[in-house]
Amino acid sequence: MSTVHVVDHPLVQHKLTLMRQTECSTKDFRQLLEEIAMLMAYEVTRDLPLQEIEIETPVAKCKSKIIAGKKLGIVPILRAGLGMVDGVLCIVPSAKVGHIGLYRDPETHLPVEYYCKLPTDVSERDLIVVDPMLATGGSAIAAIDFIKRRGCKRITLMCLVGCPEGIDALQKAHPDVDLYIAAIDDHLNENKYIVPGLGDAGDRLFGTK
Ligand code: PRP
Ligand code: URA
Repeated sequence: MSTVHVVDHPLVQHKLTLMRQTECSTKDFRQLLEEIAMLMAYEVTRDLPLQEIEIETPVAKCKSKIIAGKKLGIVPILRAGLGMVDGVLCIVPSAKVGHIGLYRDPETHLPVEYYCKLPTDVSERDLIVVDPMLATGGSAIAAIDFIKRRGCKRITLMCLVGCPEGIDALQKAHPDVDLYIAAIDDHLNENKYIVPGLGDAGDRLFGTK
């Protein structure tokens, strides 16, 4: 079974509280999402393997550690996942970025795919799939299904707000995918929105309705 890591760092929790509030502007929402993504990426990359190399400081030669050549990729689920890409890139600037376009059908609440472009060497990369919301889990599950069909084996999902229903569904569908999340909320309402959540993440990020 996959591991669920709740990122309870005070900075993440503080910024998430600001984002949840109805009065948070589009500009602030966008900035806070980027900042949280950067802080969460620090946790997601905690176990990257290191190797020792010889270096020379102004004072002496010594051995020092660098990341051992892991190839990383970031895959935002459009639209709202886009708001997390720059934050992750701040700390892993050489990661490649793929895109998966999915929206939830308003009647069935099932994900509908409309776009996919992944790095050509995706099967050699460790991928971080990003999307602020994990509601029914349908979008994340469909995106990960798609990526796995392209040969990628090492996938981590990074979300902001989820709920027990979405986490259960993700773990059943993809028991090998670890989840990093800032908050696990109470439940889904009749429209499959997370309660209390933060509303429609895509609309709040881009100022649409
Ligand atoms: C939102 C969100 C997730 C999805 C989560 O996207 O960004 O992708 O809903 O819901 P689920 O877990 O029930 O699938 P939405 O479908 O609203 O599309 P948008 O980002 O284009 O607005
Ligand atoms: N998508 C969102 O943007 N918010 C929710 O609460 C559920 C799905």
